[in-house]
Amino acid sequence: MSLLLNMNLIPSQRHLFDIPDDIAYLNCAYLGPLSNTVVAASRHGADRKAHPWEITSDDFFSENEIARALFARIINASADDIAITPAASYGVSVAARNLPLARGETVVLLAEQFPSNVYAWRESAEQAGACIVTVARPEDGDLTRAVIDAVDERTAIVALPHCHWADGALLDLVRIARRTREVEASLVLDVTQSAGVLPLDVQEISPDYLVTACYKWLLGPYSTGFLYVAPHLQEGRPIEFNWRARVGSNDFSGLVNYEDTYLPGARRFDVGECANFHTMPALIAALEQILEWGVDETAATLSAYNAGIAERAGALGLMSLGHDRRAGHFLGLRFPEGIPIKLLDILREARVYVSVRGDSLRVTPHVYNTRADVDRLFEVLKLSIG
Ligand SMILES: Cc1ncc(COP(=O)(O)O)c(C=O)c1O
Repeated sequence: MSLLLNMNLIPSQRHLFDIPDDIAYLNCAYLGPLSNTVVAASRHGADRKAHPWEITSDDFFSENEIARALFARIINASADDIAITPAASYGVSVAARNLPLARGETVVLLAEQFPSNVYAWRESAEQAGACIVTVARPEDGDLTRAVIDAVDERTAIVALPHCHWADGALLDLVRIARRTREVEASLVLDVTQSAGVLPLDVQEISPDYLVTACYKWLLGPYSTGFLYVAPHLQEGRPIEFNWRARVGSNDFSGLVNYEDTYLPGARRFDVGECANFHTMPALIAALEQILEWGVDETAATLSAYNAGIAERAGALGLMSLGHDRRAGHFLGLRFPEGIPIKLLDILREARVYVSVRGDSLRVTPHVYNTRADVDRLFEVLKLSIG
C-alpha cells in the first residue's frame, strides 16, 4: 500500500462517460457504466452481426485471444491460463467440479460471502459429506487472521474474495495463500469486486482458480467474465462440451471429424459461444482502458477519493472500516442508529446513487467520479442525519 501512496492520481475521467453532471453515481460495486468508447465498440460489434457475411472463421477466435491476453496482464498471468466465461458463478462451478473434496474435509468461506462463490461449495460439500466452515467477522476486525485461524489440517478448499462485497473488508491474500499451501488446500478467489482496481499478482499468490465477472470494476459488458486456471489444473474437466474448445475447431468444414484433444491451456474451460460478436469488442475496449489507467494508479486514486469521503462521514458520526482493514476503492458507511428509513429513496431523488448491503451504506466510486459528486452525497447525508 505504501507504494500506492507515492503514485500519481488520475484526474476525473468523467469526460469519457455519458454521466450527466447532476448524477452522482457512486455505485460501481453494483454495475459499472460503459465508457463512450466501450459503447462505440459494442455498437460496432452489433453492426457486424447485422452483416454476417463479413464475419470470418478467424473472428470466432481472434478477439477471444486479445481479451484473454488483456485480462492476463491485469493479474500477471499468461493468456494461456485464462478461460472466457459468462459469469463468476460459471468459473466457480469449473473449480468445484475439478477440486477433490472428501468426507470430513472442510471448505472455508466468509460469512455473507457473495452467493456465486457459495452455492457450488454447498453442493460439493453435501455430495462429499464435507463441511462448510464460515468465518464470521471478528470483534477486532482482523478478517485475515480469522480466515487463517479457520484453515486447518481438515481444510481442502479455501474460497474467498479479495474484499467483502458489502463493505470492502480486505483480505491479505498473500498471508492466506501461505497458510492454505501449508495445509495443502486449494485456493479459489472471486475477484469480481476488486479486479482492475486492487492490485493482485497470481505469481505471488498462486491461487488454483480465480474468477471474475467483468461488468463491475472492469467496466465491461454484462455476461462476460474470466477464469484463471493454474497451470497444474489445466488438464481438468470442463463443465460443458463446447465444440470450439477442441483442436482444429477453426476448420469449420471439418467439425464432424470429432476431436478428443482440447485447445491448449485453460481454453478447454471457455463457455460455449464465447466468440460473442456483440460483447467481445466492448470487453476488449474496456480492458484496454483499465490497463491504460493502470491498476496501481486507479487503486491509489480511489483510495484517496474514499479517504476524503470517510473523513467527512466521520465528522457526521458515521463509521467505516479503517483504511488498513478495507480495500481502498470500497467504503461501507455505518450509522450509529442504523441506516435512516428512506435514506436510499431520498438519495435517489437527489440523483445520488449508492447501495445498502447489510448494515452499510456502500459507496463505490470509480475514476469517472468528481468532487461535486461527493458534495451532492453529503448535502443529502447532512440533511438526513439532522
Ligand atoms: C463478489 C461478487 N461476485 C460475483 C458477483 C456476480 O456474480 P455472477 O457473475 O455469478 O452473476 C457479484 C455481484 O454482485 C459479487 O459481488
